[in-house]
Amino acid sequence: MKEIRVGIIGGGMISHRHMVVYEEIRKHAAEFGFTAKVVAMAEIDEAKRKAWGEKYGFEDKDLYADFREMLKRDDLDTIDVCVHNNLHASVSIAAMKAGYDVYCEKPEASTYADAKMMIDCAKKLGRKYHVQISSLMNNQTRMARKMIADGELGHLYYSNLTMVSRRRRPGYDLPMFTTDFYTKEVAGHGPLIDLGVYLISQLLFVMGMPKLKSVSGFATTGLEIDPALVSDPKGFGVEDLGCALAKFEDGLSLQILGTSAANIDDHMKTYILGSKGGLEIKQADTTGGPFAASLLGGAAALAMGDPSLTFYGDLGAKKNITADLDCWEQGKIDVIKNPKLALYDDNQVMWLAYKLGILDDTTRYNTPEIAMNMLKVTDGLFLSSQLGREVTAEEIEAMSKSMAITEQETPFGTIHYDLSF
Ligand SMILES: NC(=O)c1ccc[n+]([C@@H]2O[C@H](COP(=O)([O-])OP(=O)(O)OC[C@H]3O[C@@H](n4cnc5c(N)ncnc54)[C@H](O)[C@@H]3O)[C@@H](O)[C@H]2O)c1
Repeated sequence: MKEIRVGIIGGGMISHRHMVVYEEIRKHAAEFGFTAKVVAMAEIDEAKRKAWGEKYGFEDKDLYADFREMLKRDDLDTIDVCVHNNLHASVSIAAMKAGYDVYCEKPEASTYADAKMMIDCAKKLGRKYHVQISSLMNNQTRMARKMIADGELGHLYYSNLTMVSRRRRPGYDLPMFTTDFYTKEVAGHGPLIDLGVYLISQLLFVMGMPKLKSVSGFATTGLEIDPALVSDPKGFGVEDLGCALAKFEDGLSLQILGTSAANIDDHMKTYILGSKGGLEIKQADTTGGPFAASLLGGAAALAMGDPSLTFYGDLGAKKNITADLDCWEQGKIDVIKNPKLALYDDNQVMWLAYKLGILDDTTRYNTPEIAMNMLKVTDGLFLSSQLGREVTAEEIEAMSKSMAITEQETPFGTIHYDLSF
């Protein structure tokens, strides 16, 4: 049985979800033919590090304050990056430069420039690199992608993502989350990249990764901020609303509205319109997938709902029908018939299979590229909002700026991140 030895960087909330998933992978090792074991963890915060070590039964020698010390070990196969957004590029590049293949949490980065830097680094140094996008890892995405590739929707001309939350600012309305979610310096941006990474990435992926031409967008922090709820001295710095019209080659458009807070009811809708059919994507998974569900005693599974699709349009002789497609149950049957599909049902499983060469660059989902293209859209939204005009894809590529952290104050001194490679 092949076992991948993992070192985690960042022992916060998401690291626990990764631990649950690694545990599930161990339980299913015989099916996959491989497993993974987390053998070391780095966390700058002493109290968190100790609590993490106690929870998972780690000896002190395997717990690090400074991740750079952990990277010097000779018994790790890969690094799993669980720090916050604007540290993703900083830490991932450091790990790649130390010789490691890297699995990184979402969003890949806050900007297109940083995502491109991470991809370029992996390519130049010959590292394998993968990003968490759980919305892609299930039969909802497989079915939608296949229907579109098979031409069942005809020519695609419009897509829409509306994700409106009335009060959902992590670290502010939702105090169980870290305040890093709302500080500009660390998070970079708000709901468009936090949740948008799942939903925009999924839309682009199922639509065959259309080539972006231009974006017209608007972003703002519209709601009053109550200083009594802002515990972080860096302040509340991310937008709570972003909207955009993105245009792609071949006459395809994407309209987006995303909020983390707004004075209107929660509402959510994602759909794609084609000349023969329309497809609504319901309950896309933004929770980490079924392997992560045991973390919250089933609550994550409940939150995940049942990712499904509804088709509207013509199916052969049947005109203008509505058909609900049961992706979930059908997905289980598909995996029984073709066990290799199980490699496409979980982020970490896909990463390990890619790392081991069971999947390669032609067969895995290229999550770093998908996320980078998603960030081109959101960078376009923010750039257009700043400039007050539509921006072209070429302008976005040229004007996107890095937000990666290059100096970080820690309890043991300043970490300087050298982003050159
Ligand atoms: N919390 C969630 O439900 C959730 C869900 C999906 C994705 N994510 C993503 O996971 C990432 C982390 O989010 P989180 O909620 O776990 O945040 P968190 O603050 O709980 O965890 C991040 C941890 O990284 C540590 N850290 C910072 N710099 C470090 C360094 N140089 N070396 C080692 N440790 C360092 C922090 O002290 C902190 O404990 C974010 O990018 C977020 O978007 C979070």
